Amino acid sequence: METKGKILVTGGAGYIGSHAVIELFQAGYEPVIIDNFVNSQESALAGIAAILNTDVTCHRIDCTEVAALREVFQNEGNIAGVIHFAAYKAVGESVREPLKYYHNNVGSLVALLQVMAEFNVTNLVFSSSCTVYGVPDQLPVTEETPVKKANSPYGNTKQICEDILTDLANSDGSKIHTIALRYFNPIGAHPSAKIGELPLGVPNNLVPFITQTAIGIREKLTVFGTDYDTSDGSNVRDYIHVVDLAKAHVVAIDRLLAGKAKQIEMFNIGTGQGNSVLEVVKTFEKVSGQKLNYEIGPRRAGDVPKIYADVTKATQELGFKTELGLEEGLASAWQWELNLKNNKK
Ligand code: UFG
Repeated sequence: METKGKILVTGGAGYIGSHAVIELFQAGYEPVIIDNFVNSQESALAGIAAILNTDVTCHRIDCTEVAALREVFQNEGNIAGVIHFAAYKAVGESVREPLKYYHNNVGSLVALLQVMAEFNVTNLVFSSSCTVYGVPDQLPVTEETPVKKANSPYGNTKQICEDILTDLANSDGSKIHTIALRYFNPIGAHPSAKIGELPLGVPNNLVPFITQTAIGIREKLTVFGTDYDTSDGSNVRDYIHVVDLAKAHVVAIDRLLAGKAKQIEMFNIGTGQGNSVLEVVKTFEKVSGQKLNYEIGPRRAGDVPKIYADVTKATQELGFKTELGLEEGLASAWQWELNLKNNKK
C-alpha cells in the first residue's frame, strides 16, 4: 500500500503515543512503533489493531540502546521521520530516582539522534512539556516566555533535551530538523474507548485519579489545595484532549516532510483555556452522571498555581487548533474507565 511515509514512533504503545499512531495511520502515514513496555502494556497494540483493522509493526527495544536502534533503522529502511515519545514522566519518582530519569530521557534522545544521523533521517518531533516554563511570570505562556529553572529532575530532562536539540540545530552540518511540542495537560481517550491512559499503580495525574475514584478503585480524590490565588482557589491547568494532541503530531510531521520547518521550532500545544481542579471535578460529575467523592487537602509540593497556553504560534504557523473541549475529554476518559472494568469481568 502506498503511504505518505514511514514514521517511527518511540513510546508508541504509551498513552499519547498510541493515539498518535492512530492519527498518523488515518492521515495516510505508516506508523512503526518502538516500545520497551516498561510503562505501557501490550493491550495497547490490540486496541490499536482493533481501531485500525490492521496490525502495526512494533519493535520491542529500549531506545537508549544504540545497537538495537540501528537494527530497527536498518531493517525498516526508508524512515521519513521520527516522533520521540519514549520517556519517563512521573515528577515525584524523578525526585527519588534522578539518574533513572537522566539515563532514560536524555540517553534515549542522544542515542536516537546519533542513529538518525547515521541513517540520514532528518525529521524529528520531540515530546516536550509546559513544565519547561516552571512558575511563569505572565499568563498565558507564549513560546517566548522564559524557560525557568526546572523544579524536578523530570522537568530538567525536558529542558536538557530541548537544549540538546537546539545545540544540534545550531551546529555545523547537522541536517536534523526538530519540532518540539510543549504539551499542556493531556486528558481523555480515543472515542472508540479501545485505547486510553493505563496508569500503573496509583495514578499521579488528576483525570485517571478521578475516573478510578468514580468507578470505586480509589476511595476518594484529594484536591491538592484550594488556597491558591485563582478563581476558586484550586490550581488552573490547560487540559487538552489526547486526540487533539495526537493530531498536532501529524501536523508537525506534515510540516517537516514538506520542508517548511526551520531547524528547530517549539510550539505550545494546548487549548488556550485554563480550568481549575474544582471545575474539572464538577464537569466530570456533569458528563458522567456520577457523584465524585472528594475532599480538600493540603497543597502538593512543586505544583504550579496556574498555567495555560497562548496558542497563537501553533494556530498561525502550524495551522493547529483543538476541536474538543473539557467535556469531551472527561466523557471519553469515563467511557475508557468503564470499558476497562467491563473487559476485566
Ligand atoms: N491534582 C489533585 N489531586 C490529585 C491529582 C492532581 O488535586 O490527586 C491536581 C494537581 O494539584 C494539579 C492538577 O490536578 O493542580 C493537575 O495535576 P496533574 O498531576 O494531572 O498534572 P500536572 O499539571 O501536575 O502535571 C503536568 C504534566 C507533567 C509536568 C507537570 C509539571 O502532566 O508532565 O505538569 O508541573 F511535569
